[in-house]
Amino acid sequence: MIIGAWHIARIGNHWYDIAKQQLEKMIASGLMDAADCILVNLAGFHGYSVPDFLYGQKKIIIIGSSRFEEDVRPLLKALQEQAKQNPTAKMFFIHGKGATTGTFSPPNAVDYWREYMSHFAIDRWQESVVALEEHDISGVEWRPNKETLGIDKPGGHFTGGFFWMNAKYLSEVCPPLDKYVDEIWAQSCLRCGGPCKPEALIPHKRSALEFFIGHANPKVNCFHNFGYKTDLYHFCAHPHLYRKEKDKEEVMTKSLWQIYGQHQGKLSDKWISYLSRYEDLFASYQGEPISLLEIGVQNGGSVELWAKYFKKAIRIVGVDINPKCGELVFDDPRIRVVVGDATNEEVQNTIMGDFDIIIDDGSHYDADIIKGFSTWFKRLKPEGIYVVEDMHCCQASAPVNGVNRFVEIAKELAHNQQVVPQNIFSVEFLNSMVIVHKRLPEDCGLGSRFIAGQTSTIVDLKRLHGSTL
Ligand SMILES: C[S@@+](CC[C@H](N)C(=O)[O-])C[C@H]1O[C@@H](n2cnc3c(N)ncnc32)[C@H](O)[C@@H]1O
Repeated sequence: MIIGAWHIARIGNHWYDIAKQQLEKMIASGLMDAADCILVNLAGFHGYSVPDFLYGQKKIIIIGSSRFEEDVRPLLKALQEQAKQNPTAKMFFIHGKGATTGTFSPPNAVDYWREYMSHFAIDRWQESVVALEEHDISGVEWRPNKETLGIDKPGGHFTGGFFWMNAKYLSEVCPPLDKYVDEIWAQSCLRCGGPCKPEALIPHKRSALEFFIGHANPKVNCFHNFGYKTDLYHFCAHPHLYRKEKDKEEVMTKSLWQIYGQHQGKLSDKWISYLSRYEDLFASYQGEPISLLEIGVQNGGSVELWAKYFKKAIRIVGVDINPKCGELVFDDPRIRVVVGDATNEEVQNTIMGDFDIIIDDGSHYDADIIKGFSTWFKRLKPEGIYVVEDMHCCQASAPVNGVNRFVEIAKELAHNQQVVPQNIFSVEFLNSMVIVHKRLPEDCGLGSRFIAGQTSTIVDLKRLHGSTL
């Protein structure tokens, strides 16, 4: 179970853009999908008016609109209440860092700071969920100092206040007290031998300590520590460089064959030729933070195997019309199964975000394959791959034949010189399988004509209209 707390402080010029971007990140990373609920506090000067980007977000629970003096306290209290009621939950806390100080575009130090914390707390949230198996809290650290933000350094903690925690840990911390103590909440707690001693904490300035949750003697997982360095910009420009080397090695060690061969869990049913093709097709995606959707879950083996193969995948979503699939339980928090007809728009709308890989291993009926492709292909990211398995099930006599539909698309592509429908880059046919690659529009067209060389003694190509010479 995942429960989040999101403090939207509607102050300054940037709160709206920051909060909207945070929502987009939660959707794109699959966190919104995976969360059971996200408590939102609408703080600041706008009363109870709900920002438009929150309309229709079913996981969001607005707990109120706190007064400025209360700031984040109502949210902390509500989160702690949830922690007590759901002791096995994994919880996260994020807020609109930089609403008053940021420039948003182009970003400044605070924006990079927020981006750095978001990268770990939101974009790579699964890593914290895994880390919480052995730790109480999880996050990253950057310590501002006099040089950077003009303030003094505090002790070790998740400066900036984006973090994940176990509900069990949170429920043991003293309740938040007042505005300033809230911001350094959980430093003083029962584990430290309470009662709280706010006077001992006040000397540290708020911005150096806010939302700290590290002194209750927790087991801390710190993904990354910038110490006092100021090059957050480089982190934000190249976050992939900061992946642990160890992770990379682990990711690259096992082939799909090995993973299938050693699999002991839920049953998967695939043809051997598909695995051979997948091995090449997916190799460059294996260590990437991808999202994968598979239509057709059945016993759950394939989604389990995809999660093993794509170790860095952000989310693996399976859809199956069989209600029994809703009873499947997966250890890997990145896997989610949606019960319903994958061709149904309502079902499609319950699944958020776009995907890097979509595999149709569902009913194999012609009409479903075609309808599924026409809707799900729009949800494929540029550079994405759409696969339909078991095309041998297509009925030549069906009113609309699945194989013919893809042949038509291939023909359109081969005939079409400049305008390519739906950003289709290629259509590949194998035995019983169709693979459609999507790319950016500029990569799908013919491009301009490129003529190289100087001598043309047979046909003077230089004179040709439209040449690039
Ligand atoms: C071939 S099995 C999937 C096997 C699984 N992908 C594997 O590799 O182990 C096909 C599954 O598609 C499901 N299915 C059939 N029609 C569907 C639809 N319209 N939407 C979603 N799932 C569907 C069936 O219930 C069945 O469990």
